[in-house]
Amino acid sequence: MLAVAVLAAGKGTRMKSDLPKVLQPLAGATLVERVLASCLPLAPQRQLLIVGHQAERVERSLSNLPGLEFVLQEPQHGTGHAVQQLLEPLAGFQGELLVLNGDVPLLRPGTLEELLAKHRSSGAAVTLLTARLADPTGYGRVFADEQGLVSGIVEHRDCSEEQRRNTLTNAGIYCFDWAKLAAVLPLLSTDNNQGELYLTDTVAMLSPAMHLEVADPDEINGINDRLQLAQCEAVLQERLRRHWMAEGVSFTDPASCTLSEGTRFGRDVLVEPQCHFRGNTTIGNGCRIGPGCLIENSSLADGVEVLYSVLRDSTVEESSVVGPFAQLRSGAHLEAGCRIGNFVEVKNSRLGAGVKANHLSYLGDADLGANVNVGAGTITANFDGLRKHRTVIGAGSKTGANSVLVA
Ligand code: UD1
Ligand code: MG
Repeated sequence: MLAVAVLAAGKGTRMKSDLPKVLQPLAGATLVERVLASCLPLAPQRQLLIVGHQAERVERSLSNLPGLEFVLQEPQHGTGHAVQQLLEPLAGFQGELLVLNGDVPLLRPGTLEELLAKHRSSGAAVTLLTARLADPTGYGRVFADEQGLVSGIVEHRDCSEEQRRNTLTNAGIYCFDWAKLAAVLPLLSTDNNQGELYLTDTVAMLSPAMHLEVADPDEINGINDRLQLAQCEAVLQERLRRHWMAEGVSFTDPASCTLSEGTRFGRDVLVEPQCHFRGNTTIGNGCRIGPGCLIENSSLADGVEVLYSVLRDSTVEESSVVGPFAQLRSGAHLEAGCRIGNFVEVKNSRLGAGVKANHLSYLGDADLGANVNVGAGTITANFDGLRKHRTVIGAGSKTGANSVLVA
């Protein structure tokens, strides 16, 4: 049996934020969502989240996840105190407990599988994840011999100068034999620099204690401040861009573009500099995007071109051309071969195939048939001060410049 516990009760003082640290967003998902997602492939029998600081807010943000048990830690006296709160809900539980800090969002699921496999095959009382960091400042240092046997962990603040030179770093990810951990949890003391109960102190009380060193130290980046948040975002963005380049997307200036995890690209897409893809966005084969676009929760079919434009909650069918300087927003739907030009805004409207609106227009709450030619400066006046009304323009129609169509 496997139980997973994620520690998410801390305030995150170093963030200097009103938002609890574990709710800080990273490429469109919160830190805690990312940590929970990384252990899902292990199919744990129990999933516990330790909440404390702004507990209700953290719980609310995860209310869509089934099977998650929330355990309250109040007040918060450290990571060891957090895990002590599990003594009651896990009373009688037999098996492994995987403990994850809620601020370590870049773990790969495969790494956790490896940790669990190593723990099970070695029969250790605890197996923890480590990495050699070039700059381990702030992290706990792990003391281990060549065989991988760990004698203990010392927090950065409690280390001597000599101990600080040890670069073997504690990731904050541990696989425990639950019964053995439960026996030593009550023995923790607050005899340290922060006067807290440290989970890390249980490691010296358990034998044998082993560690697994990860090959990619980025995986164990813990986020305590805004600088580390930005560094993790950069690592994630780099992973996403590399993934899509391997799938056949070209970026002329990759570092200037950002992607969300929910963005999907077809083949032979060209992404020019300064393009940002957010939410659930799909880009079809052979599209040409940018420079200078923001595309959020939108779906673009094959062969679409977008230049210096903003698209949100919109659908664009094959071979349409958008921009420069156009805005498509909530519920804009362009059928195939449309041409939306500069300073044209489209909202909650369906434009039939081949519609052209090339200059200075607002098309809101409108239905345009195929091949309508919208003259420069055509405006649909949809709002009478109280309600919005629809404008309907039949296929093949043509409006003159500077027309206001009052719905
Ligand atoms: C911790 C480890 C350190 C390790 C580092 C890895 C301890 C004592 N130290 O330090 O060895 O190198 O993580 O990132 O464990 N939390 C609670 N309740 C509390 C305190 C914290 O749930 O009372 C949660 C926090 O919300 C956070 C996690 O535990 O998600 C880690 O806490 P944090 O204060 O960030 O520990 P570090 O100083 O980073
Ligand atoms: Mg931390």
